[in-house]
Amino acid sequence: MSFNPQDAYTIADLRAVAKDILPKGLFEFVDRGTEDELALKRNRKGFERICVRPKVLVDVSKRSIQTTMAGQSTSMPLAVAPTGAAGLLSFDGEISIARAAAKLGIPFTLSTASITSMERVAAEAGGRLWFQLYMWPDREVSYQLIDRVKAAGYEALLVTVDTAVSPNREYNRRNGFTLPMQINSKNMFDVARHPTWFLSVFLKYLLRSGIPALENYPDQYRQKLMQRKPGQQVSLPKSDSLNWDDLKELRKRWKGSLMVKGVLHPDDAQRALECGADAIVVSNHGGRNLDIAIAPIDALPAIVERVNGRVDVLLDSGVRRGSDIFKALALGAKGVFAGRAPLWGVTAAGEEGAFRALDILREELDRVMAFSGCPSLSDIDRSLLWFDHSSASE
Ligand SMILES: Cc1cc2nc3c(=O)[nH]c(=O)nc-3n(C[C@H](O)[C@H](O)[C@H](O)COP(=O)(O)O)c2cc1C
Repeated sequence: MSFNPQDAYTIADLRAVAKDILPKGLFEFVDRGTEDELALKRNRKGFERICVRPKVLVDVSKRSIQTTMAGQSTSMPLAVAPTGAAGLLSFDGEISIARAAAKLGIPFTLSTASITSMERVAAEAGGRLWFQLYMWPDREVSYQLIDRVKAAGYEALLVTVDTAVSPNREYNRRNGFTLPMQINSKNMFDVARHPTWFLSVFLKYLLRSGIPALENYPDQYRQKLMQRKPGQQVSLPKSDSLNWDDLKELRKRWKGSLMVKGVLHPDDAQRALECGADAIVVSNHGGRNLDIAIAPIDALPAIVERVNGRVDVLLDSGVRRGSDIFKALALGAKGVFAGRAPLWGVTAAGEEGAFRALDILREELDRVMAFSGCPSLSDIDRSLLWFDHSSASE
């Protein structure tokens, strides 16, 4: 029986449905962090220790959440974060999430590591499309990818700079989870226990075009990944030689809006803007890369101070409530990205589920603004916040 997304009242509700549907290996690939999952927990703690000191007796009857992010207009200060392999959670899942974002009037960011090609998403989803770039060791191959991004009509490029090497996610190895996802002796029973997912997602891909692959990857990389032996660790080519000169070169090649994703240090924020970035995305990759990384919400104030309004500062990692968006805005972010939230939605109920996830965040933000005496986003500022230091050290 299919799930009615209106029965979900929170992002946590959607996550619970997704947990039932997905094989454990795939669920954990999305849900979990890395190593001891300290960054994952810190991302939530960072938000939870911030309280709001609301203002009352303000006429909040006409509220607006319309804004811009990196110079691009959006119906609310939220964009969908790039998430590789999102299409594995639901058949053509990337198209479904992009359509949901378009319906809400917010940008959707497609990952380099998507299951659906950038051309298909552009042709079938519409809306405001941004593209996330992982630079490969062979720069020329990356430049060819950028040419495809331009030709497909994406309006902004987010270059991810926080993944110099592959993260240490032991659970993927234990679960036999690899990308592209294959069924092997380690995950066979796990998949068999989740027939809804197998029949409505994996089998549909198999019947249409074979094992779902990373469609933006050039042929030589895709073949390498497919030849991986069963159980062998995910090894996508990443560039540990990526440096500031690469960012300058990207700036020359990409004339549209350029964002740098994965900045946590104010010095790096400054360098990114000196290289011509239009926005900085303060992110620890949702706690999935460096486990001892600071929570972006904690890193935000120093970066906002250093950037001093010269470019937009955006944030992701740990956003699960509209109130988290409010807190990030109060600390100076221009907008936030949600990664896992729309993934849980699309798993639970396809496009409608993804829409529900984003709409829950919209409703919650709107309500917090009304409660806090903020009819518009420009009324949200740091004076409304109070920091609960007692829970910070728990
Ligand atoms: C399953 C999954 C895949 C991801 N893949 C990418 C990716 O391909 N490129 C990227 O820059 N970030 C990727 N991220 C990180 C997100 O863009 C974002 O930084 C993170 O999910 C934000 O945290 P949240 O999930 O708590 O909202 C991925 C995150 C998840 C959960």
